[in-house]
Amino acid sequence: MAPTVVENNIVLSASEKETTLADRNTHATRVAGKGADPEEKALFASVTKRIDYTPKIGTELHGIKLSQLTEQQGEELAALIAERGVVWFRDQDDLDYKEHVRLGKRWGPLHVHPLVPHSQDNPEVIVLDSRLSPPSRFNTNDSWHSDVSFEPAPASFSILKFEEIPEAGGDTIWSNGYELYDDLSPPIQHLLQGLTATHSSDIFKILTQSSGRKTFGKLNDSEHPVIRTNPVTGWKSVYTNPVFTREINGVTPAESKWILDYLGDLIAKKLQYQVRFHWEKNSVAIWDNRSTFHTGVPDFRPYQRRGVRVTVSGEKPFYDPQSGTQAKAWEATAKAIVAKQEAAEAKAKAETDAKVAASVVGA
Ligand SMILES: [Fe+2]
Repeated sequence: MAPTVVENNIVLSASEKETTLADRNTHATRVAGKGADPEEKALFASVTKRIDYTPKIGTELHGIKLSQLTEQQGEELAALIAERGVVWFRDQDDLDYKEHVRLGKRWGPLHVHPLVPHSQDNPEVIVLDSRLSPPSRFNTNDSWHSDVSFEPAPASFSILKFEEIPEAGGDTIWSNGYELYDDLSPPIQHLLQGLTATHSSDIFKILTQSSGRKTFGKLNDSEHPVIRTNPVTGWKSVYTNPVFTREINGVTPAESKWILDYLGDLIAKKLQYQVRFHWEKNSVAIWDNRSTFHTGVPDFRPYQRRGVRVTVSGEKPFYDPQSGTQAKAWEATAKAIVAKQEAAEAKAKAETDAKVAASVVGA
């Protein structure tokens, strides 16, 4: 019988007894954040500063301790993450493994990864330590993905904290799946709406074969819609990724390759879809895997880093033809921005005119 391999409280490989741990993964039975106050007033009552990195993706919030969120703030945060794709926090030193797990459990069942090493006491806490992951396909520039999309109930949210960061490098980049969908021409949108794709854990199968490691559960393959509705925002997003999507179903291999390569190119190359985050020790990122893609930047060696992640299982992915888009919702936001600019300009002009009038009177 293969023994459990443990080092520094990290379980690296399963024993026979642990090989079914990940098989208990299940899907969420409710949609966290759906129906929350759209203005997220309870959450923003505690926020001291909000920094939107780009108009459509990525927000950093100050003033929040994730270990102290109220129920309502937790729901509103889930809604904000679905809307902004990824939300970051600094200085979350008190978010220990127990609190990390508690935060994730607010939003759904926690995923146990079938292969990535985990904390000995908390199998839902995976450890991303560069010392444990020799350079592989995951450490290359083409590793854009959405977490565990090979699962029947892939991740809704991932909560990643870095306990140790490199002295330089090691940023993470996210790309916006909503905007990728919105920028496609209507005939291509129409084509993709009717398609499904097979997502596979082939990359992990190769790793287990080459290392001989025992997994914590079955390495699944799953069929998902190519265009996915986010159940919180109700917006459409592209849902294929270069790491886990093996093929588009029902088309020829050449057509499948063309579609996946084209979408993968847009994810990786369109800078306007992307946002980049520079980690500090105890920074936390929480992102919505249903509508974003992400990749690490493999530039930090020989420095090392160590992160811990809790992954929340979402619903079975679906596509609703009636769902809306970020582009449509953005029209109202853009109008409000223009109205605010015009009001500020009108106010500045009125002040200038008043000063001129006063100087004329005084002359
Ligand atoms: Fe990831």
